[in-house]
Amino acid sequence: MIIGVPKEIKAQENRVGAVPAMALDLVGAGHTVLVQQGAGLGAGVTDEAYVKVGAKVVGSAAEVYGAADMIVKVKEPLAAEYPLIKKGQLLFTYFHFAASRDLTDAMLKSGAHCFAYETLIHRNSLPLLTPMSEVAGRMAVQVGADCLEKHNGGRGILLGGIPGVEPATVVILGGGVVGTNAAKMAAGLGADVRLLDIDLDRLRYLSDVMPANVTLLHSSPITVREQIVHADLVVGAVLVQGARAPRLIRREDLKTMKEGAVVVDVAVDQGGCIETCKPTTHAAPTYVVDGVMHYCVANMPGAVPRTSTFGLTNATGPWAKKLAGMGAAKAAQDPVLGTAANVLAGLCTHPGVAEAFGLPYRAPNTVL
Ligand SMILES: NC(=O)c1ccc[n+]([C@@H]2O[C@H](COP(=O)([O-])OP(=O)(O)OC[C@H]3O[C@@H](n4cnc5c(N)ncnc54)[C@H](O)[C@@H]3O)[C@@H](O)[C@H]2O)c1
Repeated sequence: MIIGVPKEIKAQENRVGAVPAMALDLVGAGHTVLVQQGAGLGAGVTDEAYVKVGAKVVGSAAEVYGAADMIVKVKEPLAAEYPLIKKGQLLFTYFHFAASRDLTDAMLKSGAHCFAYETLIHRNSLPLLTPMSEVAGRMAVQVGADCLEKHNGGRGILLGGIPGVEPATVVILGGGVVGTNAAKMAAGLGADVRLLDIDLDRLRYLSDVMPANVTLLHSSPITVREQIVHADLVVGAVLVQGARAPRLIRREDLKTMKEGAVVVDVAVDQGGCIETCKPTTHAAPTYVVDGVMHYCVANMPGAVPRTSTFGLTNATGPWAKKLAGMGAAKAAQDPVLGTAANVLAGLCTHPGVAEAFGLPYRAPNTVL
């Protein structure tokens, strides 16, 4: 197969769909890899690095899309890319179809086969979302520590304290991938960490693996209210799959928090778990409500495109190879890759997307 790797054109998107190690693996499996000139530069990967592993570099997106049987990228195609997509072409990327009717209609019309990273289920988890949650969880503590510095508007407190001075209290709502990674970082810096989740089995597991400065608490509206009073930094990391994030902190609760405390609501992409959360960008990441600083950037991994690209492609690489090896028809029958099939040959093949827009649903293994 000819596999194309275009340059991302979404604003502030510096990640790339394949790194040289992934290209080497695909070339080794007998595929041709075509990379658009400069596609990897935002992530610190030069054109020469692709050429060294046997990939070919071409000048324009039109050349990549025009020649490729399969496109591997990061973000959903934008309107400028729609005309480049061909009937029968395989696309493997993040789509988040339910968030855009225009994108869904464009891909249905294109006749392309769209396999979405975000819906691929393997061993009861979403392995192509995990690396981005790992990045966001770790970053949440890094940006939270920065916001707590006085010149940035915070309380002027060091997360780990020093001998003789108490550390900061970090309250983390949700102990999934984001929450666990945030807890590890905050605990490593020496903070007093409180991690809340509603899943008792998860709390039991975390109590075995977390260091002693992480206290595990069952999440309830009462516990949340009790904990945020002491918090210097709150990290919002809850997820209820397929639903809006539950609002665990109401506006009136903010008045009970310390002046200059910081909230990093990582769950902003699902509506946020703090009532006063509204999406922000890396250009203007924070705002203050009732003396509490809010950081609500919806694409946190975008700030660290190199780490994010390597983390993402470590996870997507093996599935991209499997998809290319099988082709769309066989992949649609596969119990794992079939879960990523959202649109096949003009038909909607994901129940969530079909429900979101009232479209007829076809099981992926009945289409091609
Ligand atoms: N802003 C960003 O850049 C960014 C990046 C990656 C992920 N995210 C978002 O972060 C959120 C968390 O992702 P994740 O991968 O950690 O999900 P996850 O499914 O691994 O973990 C979510 C956890 O929340 C817990 N939970 C549910 N309801 C709760 C409640 N009422 N109180 C306490 N805990 C509760 C669940 O039991 C689960 O352990 C998601 O909304 C995800 O989309 C945002």
